[in-house]
Amino acid sequence: MQFDQQADIYDKRTGLGEQTASKTAQALGNLIKPFSDGIFMEIGAGTGEIGFFLQDLGTPYIGIDLSSRMLDVYRKRFTNPNSIPTLIQTDANNPWPLDDNLVSVFFSSRALHHLKREHVVSELARLSIPHNSILVLGHVKRNKTSVKTIMRQEMHKILHDYGFQEKSGQSNRKKLFELLEKKGGKVLDPVITSRWKVSHAPIESINSWRVVDGIAGNEIEPTLKNKILDELENRALYLFPDLNQPLEAEERYELNAIKLGTSTE
Ligand SMILES: C[S@@+](CC[C@H](N)C(=O)[O-])C[C@H]1O[C@@H](n2cnc3c(N)ncnc32)[C@H](O)[C@@H]1O
Repeated sequence: MQFDQQADIYDKRTGLGEQTASKTAQALGNLIKPFSDGIFMEIGAGTGEIGFFLQDLGTPYIGIDLSSRMLDVYRKRFTNPNSIPTLIQTDANNPWPLDDNLVSVFFSSRALHHLKREHVVSELARLSIPHNSILVLGHVKRNKTSVKTIMRQEMHKILHDYGFQEKSGQSNRKKLFELLEKKGGKVLDPVITSRWKVSHAPIESINSWRVVDGIAGNEIEPTLKNKILDELENRALYLFPDLNQPLEAEERYELNAIKLGTSTE
């Protein structure tokens, strides 16, 4: 399984870093103040970079994730075993492991696009506390001209040519929020929790996809994956003067929230 295999290197490879994680938890704390009567549920909690800082918010927390190895890394953050939060290994494409109407905050960082959208909508409706629940999605935003954006776009084009579906956080979030607005949801203003500069060479994107199973949420067998990445490398040669030359760009972490409605339409 993709994330089991990369659990030990995940934070180094794509982690947000302690500063962004703690600032995000702080911003989340402010955002969710009016929604603190129920459980805080994190979907796709991963290695707990942000989750670690969410334990003092005063709202009971439960984290779920498909990958038991990602959750193992999460648990290791706590020196005191009694402080380890409730973490459940489960496929969130199945019913989420809580009774109805108990959750006031649903949070997911860089994970919800792995799930079936209609299922997410129905689980949000089932579990949320009517009239007082919020869904918050977190993600890293990059400028259109950044090396990572361009490499990801080119990779998606190739994946599309090979018949794979795009699993992008941004397009998923837009479609999900549209569905939730139809059910009476009210989108809140985005909150940028942190900004930083990165220096990234095109070849680093390719190398980073080579070392994990699959690409961008798609399970792809290794021979085909290498073919796709070789093709990507060829395309990149036309787009960048030197694939080994790092180029600087700004990245930011953004929270997008929607207060959930109660319409059953
Ligand atoms: C890109 S990681 C994000 C981890 C963490 N939230 C973060 O921002 O660092 C995506 C996470 O979603 C989890 N995930 C993927 N598919 C899932 C599913 N069907 N059910 C539950 N979790 C899933 C993965 O195991 C992984 O931990």
